[in-house]
Amino acid sequence: MGKPLIIAIDGPAASGKSTVARRVARALNCVFVNSGEMYRAFTWWTLKNDVDPTDTDAVIRLLNDTSFTCGHEELIGFVEVAGQRLSEEELKNDAVNSSVSAIAAIAEVRARLVAEQRAFANESSLVMEGRDIGTVVFPDTPWKFFIDAAPEIRAARRNAEGIGDSIEARDRADSMRKASPLKVADDAMVIDSSHLDIDEVVDIVVNAIRWENESVAS
Ligand code: DC
Repeated sequence: MGKPLIIAIDGPAASGKSTVARRVARALNCVFVNSGEMYRAFTWWTLKNDVDPTDTDAVIRLLNDTSFTCGHEELIGFVEVAGQRLSEEELKNDAVNSSVSAIAAIAEVRARLVAEQRAFANESSLVMEGRDIGTVVFPDTPWKFFIDAAPEIRAARRNAEGIGDSIEARDRADSMRKASPLKVADDAMVIDSSHLDIDEVVDIVVNAIRWENESVAS
């Protein structure tokens, strides 16, 4: 067995990175972690507690009173906020979609969740997807991928999922924030998925890793 693999997959909303990351993890027998779920879970908790997501001091007070439990089951990562595991509908509802960027822009929130994200690497090989995994969370990993797609294609993909999500506004906020903005790591492989299907993107990532890492079973 070689060293545990840490595979960072970043990209904007609806670029397909979640599906790709999940499939790459399955192909390589690694834990899959969706770091966006952590920001979404804490956003849900903020709204549940009637804390205004733009009131940074109040959000930080709540953060300091909140426990997070992270782990994985059958190689899929999960997060519990204040002891609660949330449903897909709770994590992706309209209120969370429109507030998550404000919460994710708060440096204290990021520091807390980045510590949880790094703890996953103590245990096993993993594929983690998000916005700053290659730039901030695991800057030393050689396995960095940035999955992009043209804005109109991403908007169409999100509409097809039937989810009301203003991805343009979210991407703008995620890219312009001071704390760990969405950007391409200097040493990331950029994959434009605009005209590729999921299988093709998964193959590019898995083959790039297998090509250079003989310890990965094929
Ligand atoms: O991947 P997603 O769309 O579910 O992420 C939701 C939000 O969480 C996204 O708009 C920005 C934030 N996020 C982040 O700031 N850093 C990450 N590593 C992952 C997500």
